[in-house]
Amino acid sequence: MKISRIYITGFMGSGKSTLGPIVANTIGWNSYDIDSEIEKRTGMKVTEIFKSKGEKFFRELESSILDEHSKELEVVVSLGGGTIAYNNNFDIIKKTGVLVYLKSSPEKIFLRLKHKTDRPLFQTIDNLVLSDEEALQKIKRLLSEREKYYRNADIIIDIDGISVGRTVDRLVRELKKKFQMVN
Ligand code: S3P
Repeated sequence: MKISRIYITGFMGSGKSTLGPIVANTIGWNSYDIDSEIEKRTGMKVTEIFKSKGEKFFRELESSILDEHSKELEVVVSLGGGTIAYNNNFDIIKKTGVLVYLKSSPEKIFLRLKHKTDRPLFQTIDNLVLSDEEALQKIKRLLSEREKYYRNADIIIDIDGISVGRTVDRLVRELKKKFQMVN
């Protein structure tokens, strides 16, 4: 099957934004990062958007940017961790491209996110960072809610304990084995 779009999903902190441009560069395609585009277009950080405009506003913008890219050719799109779970995003993704899931365990995700303060879903309403136990529980809950989308990815790559370079190699090899790409 010939493909024109690769979508990268995975939980927050799984390396989607790092990997997307490297994969795109390797196969000679363009790359986009939905969160960065939201920030560019609004001139606001994702955390600020959640705070001042609310999650619904963020999700609408996220869906419309995804919709735009789903009409372009030869693109690698790094999704936000939640993109697949809102509106009709999952259907758009599955109809227009190949979905890659960067899979990680809740414990590893927790360690990667522990010191980051730019993930609004890991702050309480009054802006306090969740306790370790609360954060781990929230990761487990969100992962299990999103599992039904993640497990339907066309390619699932286990990232725990594997370097970015080796993950890219594996992914590009899998893509070339399963799909026909321009390069
Ligand atoms: C979110 C993940 C974030 C960002 C927003 C919501 C989520 O993206 O879109 O904070 O719902 O999981 P990353 O996965 O790139 O951190």
